[in-house]
Amino acid sequence: MTAQIIDGKTIAAELKQKIKAATQMRLATGKRCPGLAVVLIGDNPASQVYVGSKRRSCEEVGFKSESFDLPESASERELLDLITQLNHDDEIDGILVQLPLPAHINTDTVIEHIAPHKDVDGFHPYNIGRLAQRNPQLRPCTPKGVITMMQTTGIELKGKEAVVVGASNIVGRPMALELLLAGCTTTVCHRMTKDLESHVRRAEILVVAVGKPNFIPGDWIREGAVVIDVGINRLENGKLTGDVEFDKASEKAAWITPVPGGVGPMTVATLLENTLFAADELNQ
Ligand code: GUN
Repeated sequence: MTAQIIDGKTIAAELKQKIKAATQMRLATGKRCPGLAVVLIGDNPASQVYVGSKRRSCEEVGFKSESFDLPESASERELLDLITQLNHDDEIDGILVQLPLPAHINTDTVIEHIAPHKDVDGFHPYNIGRLAQRNPQLRPCTPKGVITMMQTTGIELKGKEAVVVGASNIVGRPMALELLLAGCTTTVCHRMTKDLESHVRRAEILVVAVGKPNFIPGDWIREGAVVIDVGINRLENGKLTGDVEFDKASEKAAWITPVPGGVGPMTVATLLENTLFAADELNQ
């Protein structure tokens, strides 16, 4: 079998077009444009790239994007005060604090300080709890974007064996909740998993979010599987590569996401989708 490509770049571009049209409709009916505050602390090069892309995408669809760049030395108190101000700002519908944070700032404290109805990353315990209880409101962007990609491609999820490799708060755990909600029988593998290979070999839907280049050998992929590679790893030669051995996996999978041009653009488009939802439904 030779896998078909799930073209995240194109699906994301279509989603952004819809968001742009909906934003114009809002303006035509006298409403203000959705507003997203993007907060970056320090100078992590990868974070700078991601934040740049999020800010640019806001401009593309006609959102107001407010940028806050704090130095690495900024205190937790300064960050919490900024979030308090944004929580009360009537022109801001979404607050995104780029992770990871410097070690002297407590990530949980920061996430829990964001008003749940402005938590467009969907990381607040309120939003994770709603997803866990089958009543999602603001949903973490990468997992939601992965579901959108598969639905747009016409991939059936109900009753499928799904395996998630990686159990982070940002991707693995909410991804498992999304797959469960979509009707998959879902397994989460992590550092302590015994015999990862046997789990991967069973997967009809495989989502890998580990952050290690070529971590999953291509010959582990089940014949006809759907392979979603969330990894974005920069090699020494400057090229980007995923967590799955792409060429070999493509010989066995039915569908596979490329890196770059797969999950990455969907994460950004879903952030915009969440911000529009927050503006329309949660912050009128
Ligand atoms: N760092 C890596 N992925 C993400 C994400 O989706 N949101 C935020 N805020 N930080 C991240």
